[in-house]
Amino acid sequence: MTVGSLRTPAILIDRATALRNLDRMQAEAIANGIRLRPHAKTHKSPLVARWQVDRGAIGICCAKLGEAEVFADAGIENIRIPYPLHPANADRLVALSNRTHLSFIVDHPAVAKQWSEALVRRARQIDVLVKIDVGFHRCGIDPAAAGAVDMIRMVASLPGLRLKGLLSHAGHAYHAHTEDELKAMADTEARTMRELADRCRSAGVKIEEISAGATPPARFSITQKGFTEYRPGNYVYFDRTQVALGAATFDDCALTVLATVVSKPAPDRVIFDSGSKTLTNDGARGFDAAPGHGVVIDHPDLLIERLSEEHAIVKATKGSTKLEPGDRVRIIPNHSCVVSNLVDQAWLVDGDGAEALPIAARGRIT
Ligand SMILES: Cc1ncc(COP(=O)(O)O)c(C=O)c1O
Repeated sequence: MTVGSLRTPAILIDRATALRNLDRMQAEAIANGIRLRPHAKTHKSPLVARWQVDRGAIGICCAKLGEAEVFADAGIENIRIPYPLHPANADRLVALSNRTHLSFIVDHPAVAKQWSEALVRRARQIDVLVKIDVGFHRCGIDPAAAGAVDMIRMVASLPGLRLKGLLSHAGHAYHAHTEDELKAMADTEARTMRELADRCRSAGVKIEEISAGATPPARFSITQKGFTEYRPGNYVYFDRTQVALGAATFDDCALTVLATVVSKPAPDRVIFDSGSKTLTNDGARGFDAAPGHGVVIDHPDLLIERLSEEHAIVKATKGSTKLEPGDRVRIIPNHSCVVSNLVDQAWLVDGDGAEALPIAARGRIT
């Protein structure tokens, strides 16, 4: 296929750019003596996971069991699920652990005990890490709480779980306002994790691994002392938000949406066929969060002002646009991870050549 012959809207992945992004992060990890375990929720593609593992990644992360099942079926041999799974999923988890080296997280004492009981009943012991809240305030235990070390020691004592270490995710880095603030978040995360690991070790609890990971602070985090593993996800494709957070340039953005102009209601307004079911309603974040629903490549004057489900309403901010119905554009979305989850198939692009890229784990949200 050629890019020109694709039906739109279509999700394009520039192969050379994606591979360069993978190579760079892998090289950084190797240079800093840290294992890379990319989060596959961005690409949801076994082919891209294979690229990552072939470059030296220790394995991958998945957000949900359903995602992990797809990657295990595709032969990925080491999968970590940094998500607070519920023990009602014990049968699925055990079945999955027969097909791949599996680990997951716990962050709640009662849930950890239920997991241990469920696994003991099935004569199994599975690797876990305790999730630590380093400022995102989503899940994870409070490292400053009086009972933090006791909780981790309790997990270490559970017969169905094999405690490997501590895990954090600096998701609050997406809300940093400046480069300095972002760096401070990375420093604080590393210090918090090191200190907690030291307190655990002093209390006799073995901590082999300290796992962190997020794309915005990666450039500051990967060089920190103490981390044994880094889990970036978005870095394979990047997006407008990562550019606004200083983590990438527009040239690094591998995922674009190919869209067609389907109407021109006014000289200064055109309609693209990529609405919220393609671009998603995620707004841009970043130091200087830009308005609109993505960047139209080569058309800096265009602002994707509003989205309906199937329409992007685009304003020419300098008065009028030369675009006419039938013309095609490429858009860098605000958030690439959610865009690739909306299609069963993206297109791997080399110049004008396009090859189907199945998004095999798309929609695996259970
Ligand atoms: C637990 C966890 N680890 C790692 C990541 C990867 O973060 P990013 O996509 O910013 O690289 C995520 C992203 O959602 C996450 O939730």
